[in-house]
Amino acid sequence: MKKDKYWLMGPVYDALSWVFAGNAIYQCKCSMLNPPHLKAGDKVLFAGVGHGKEAIYAAERGAIVTVVDLSKAMLDKFREGVAKSGKTLDIRVVHSDIFKVEEFGQYDMVTGNFFLNLFPRAMIPDVLNHLIKLTRVGGSVVISDFALPQGNPLAKLFKNLYWYTAILIFWATTGAAIHPVYDYKQYMIDAGLDMKDEKHTPVLGVDAYTSFLGKRVA
Ligand SMILES: C[S@@+](CC[C@H](N)C(=O)[O-])C[C@H]1O[C@@H](n2cnc3c(N)ncnc32)[C@H](O)[C@@H]1O
Repeated sequence: MKKDKYWLMGPVYDALSWVFAGNAIYQCKCSMLNPPHLKAGDKVLFAGVGHGKEAIYAAERGAIVTVVDLSKAMLDKFREGVAKSGKTLDIRVVHSDIFKVEEFGQYDMVTGNFFLNLFPRAMIPDVLNHLIKLTRVGGSVVISDFALPQGNPLAKLFKNLYWYTAILIFWATTGAAIHPVYDYKQYMIDAGLDMKDEKHTPVLGVDAYTSFLGKRVA
């Protein structure tokens, strides 16, 4: 396996996201993990799970959870979180590139949280299509990420500054691609998903994070 790009970020990722957003990122990632979208017994895959407290949240609510991540440093922190929960949870950990996971049509829900933003624009349709293929027909794809900079000029400026601060940190530490915030909803519509829900999570009164849920229809 190649060098772990998250060797530096891995141990501090969640602490950094706390400094950056308080509880807002966690709230955003959990916003679709409840009924009617997710029920006990549902199979959920978390692509690029990172520290994955939201995957633990889903498992604590009875979901059958698979987490996938390329980074051992991130998965070490994820395992620490599971151990800290002190519970026996139905969680399978897969240390792999998501593109090598070919359990097609097997999941009731597949999530990509703060995951698509790692990729250059040209790759987004491929990454999204792969997540869709892992989902059963009728199941849900959930994408949570930075909100598209919209609204009045001040709100737009705040959102752009917020995003570019984050992506520059990730570019410097992990080699992530630098780009504007992607229009995840439009990519999901273009990929043929039937959009069913969206949740907005504010920071300092500004809509900073969004979670979109679309159903696989074919
Ligand atoms: C920005 S972090 C987001 C982590 C987590 N989903 C969250 O929202 O806090 C992106 C994660 O995706 C993982 N990752 C990057 N490329 C991947 C790939 N091709 N397959 C699986 N995981 C990948 C990284 O190791 C990292 O843990």
